[in-house]
Amino acid sequence: MLPAFRAATRQAAARRASTITFQAARAGSTWANVPQGPPVCITEAFKADTFDQKINLGVGAYRDDQGKPYVLPSVRAAEDTIISKRLNKEYLGITGLPEFTKAAAELAYGKGSPALERLVITQSISGTGALRIAAAFLSRFHPSGKIYIPTPSWANHKAVFSDAGLKVEQYRYYDKKTIGLDFEGMLADIKAAPKGSMFLFHACAHNPTGVDPTVEQWKEISDAVKAQGHFAFFDMAYQGFASGDTDKDAFAVRYFVEQGHDICLAQSFAKNMGLYGERVGAFSILASSAEEKKRIDSQVKILIRPMYSNPPLHGARIAAEILNTPALNQQWLGEVKDMADRIITMRALLKENLEKLGSAHDWSHITSQIGMFAYTGLDPPSMDKLAKEYSVYATKDGRISVAGITSGNVGRLAEAIYKVKG
Ligand SMILES: Cc1ncc(COP(=O)(O)O)c(C=O)c1O
Repeated sequence: MLPAFRAATRQAAARRASTITFQAARAGSTWANVPQGPPVCITEAFKADTFDQKINLGVGAYRDDQGKPYVLPSVRAAEDTIISKRLNKEYLGITGLPEFTKAAAELAYGKGSPALERLVITQSISGTGALRIAAAFLSRFHPSGKIYIPTPSWANHKAVFSDAGLKVEQYRYYDKKTIGLDFEGMLADIKAAPKGSMFLFHACAHNPTGVDPTVEQWKEISDAVKAQGHFAFFDMAYQGFASGDTDKDAFAVRYFVEQGHDICLAQSFAKNMGLYGERVGAFSILASSAEEKKRIDSQVKILIRPMYSNPPLHGARIAAEILNTPALNQQWLGEVKDMADRIITMRALLKENLEKLGSAHDWSHITSQIGMFAYTGLDPPSMDKLAKEYSVYATKDGRISVAGITSGNVGRLAEAIYKVKG
């Protein structure tokens, strides 16, 4: 293990040295003033490690119990149908495939929801693209010009919003001491923000903490948001992944709508359909009237056109086929539940293994947290030690992707955590 790690470190040093030589040789270049940015992903060290039992808990993608990428059988079936239809590859319209966006809206807001009639919706380049369109729209039209995000939040939120020109503020969310929700702090920050502020909420399976408000807490959050005249923006990247039930996971979104909030929503089909690289998502915004809907829709199109003209076709066709074919839809819902259940089982196994080893710590947060990620409470030096001495890779903040745990590696993982943390 250690020699492997040393070899990886040497390789990284050699790479750095060659970059420096190259930069020195081209010092007079047009791009001489472009500074070196920090790495944007954590997979490099994992790739460089040659240990055959290394564990990658950094990626936010589901893995099967063999640790392999998983293509859902419903996705394979939808693709077979699409290919057999010999469809053309013409451009989509600016807001994407209507069969897809209509079905995506129903999945999020609920079939028959009165909200659907006044909804502006567009297909997007997965969840990130939905957030980016939202950020551009809000930056242009929301009077506050700033958005509050939870502390912590998905690492990309701040960059997406600030790149679109929004000021980013934070509200309290996670309590390090309890490894749970800082509900009082969150409510206090919502109440203290200037009236008419924008708040981003993770609809379910909060990333990175795996800590979600309860149904009762969501109700109080809704009341506080309403009392202050704030605007709620939901990021729902894991619908179905949290509980295994797409309706249950949409509770917060649907409750806010029922309570009369004109929310906006970013949806991703990366996780719940395993369509990561196909980039399938949607951005929607609730208008207060038919006339307002027309105006908002026109502006969404004006924003998207110069960004990427129109979205990609194939993934949206897959999602539409699954959502609109009753038998396939049932099959998919079962597969979503299977993925969520495997994650819940791995949480339980990790906790059980740690307890069996005699760990003195309370690991109940591993099973009480929800979704793809668990916030272990391990500090950055412990995470470094896990990587360097045990070839277990995850982010420094102590977040592990439970999807990377398998019945084959959970024992070794528990041992590594136990040796590092006790
Ligand atoms: C909270 C959250 N929002 C949005 C996304 C966007 O994902 P994608 O662009 O792959 O749909 C992610 C992905 O990890 C996420 O965790």
